[in-house]
Amino acid sequence: KRKVIIDTDPGTDDARAIIMALAQPDWEILAITLVAGNCKIKHQVDNIARLLHICERTEIPVYKGSECSLLGNHDLQTGYHGVDGFGDVFTYDVDKSMVKEENAAIAINDLVQKYPGEVTLITIGPLTNVAMAIRLNPSLGSQLKDCFMMGGNIHGRGNRTTSAEFNFACDPESAYIVLNELKTTSPITIAPLESCRISHLNWDVYERLNKIGSKKNNFTQQIDAYTAGERRKAGERMIVYDECAVAAAIDVSTVEDSFEAYVTIELTGQYTRGQCIVDYDKMLEKPPNCKVIVKMNQEKFEELIFQSLK
Ligand code: BDR
Ligand code: CA
Repeated sequence: KRKVIIDTDPGTDDARAIIMALAQPDWEILAITLVAGNCKIKHQVDNIARLLHICERTEIPVYKGSECSLLGNHDLQTGYHGVDGFGDVFTYDVDKSMVKEENAAIAINDLVQKYPGEVTLITIGPLTNVAMAIRLNPSLGSQLKDCFMMGGNIHGRGNRTTSAEFNFACDPESAYIVLNELKTTSPITIAPLESCRISHLNWDVYERLNKIGSKKNNFTQQIDAYTAGERRKAGERMIVYDECAVAAAIDVSTVEDSFEAYVTIELTGQYTRGQCIVDYDKMLEKPPNCKVIVKMNQEKFEELIFQSLK
């Protein structure tokens, strides 16, 4: 089985992305690691425990990671996914025995060292845990099989600030460390904001999804309700972000267009801190560290979501 670690800040789109990962019969999810981002870790613990119960996958260990950015200075949460990250709809209590004591950064290294060259790392939140894991073990990247990431933006327009995408904006220093020091054997496949936006769901697709009527889909529908309502009112399509990184990891043919380049991040700048920098024209003379997704194959991508939510 393919061994997978998911580093996440669940988050409504994280939820759907994780459900997609859990639905792969040939995947063994070694761990889900939590990092502050969409909401605080204390909410994430409830979110992920509820999600694992709904999916009947409570055997998967969960590790809590960083409560804040590396520099400790970012204000978390946009409220976009509700205060609790899952649309503020659930209050029921849930068994949390899958949440372990070990810190996420340590668990990532322990698992990767247990299965050298075998682990796929999927990051769908800010990169604090992975940066910390690199500081503990500079060889982490070369010990991974591969890495898939949702983060960054390639054309300068952000969603957290005018210039920066949320996951990179939350912790630019960590994104910098991961992009420049993970040094994976194959480039990190990165789903930037722009390609995810192309893949946002039309409302007829979203409505068909919500007719599936499975426990999993009822769950995502409930946590999505607020965001979906706001998007509809604004005349926007339904968001998908983290789902794109997971889809690329599941099946490379869901990626229709991509290119390899050296990608880094702006750490200063009056407006541009956190903005992703793509060296399109090799001016920095660095080897490519990322395979950047330009566009998903929408049909295959949507089919994967449907199959996973059944
Ligand atoms: C990213 O930010 C978060 O709100 C989403 O979960 C996703 O990981 C998109 O910019
Ligand atoms: Ca996320």
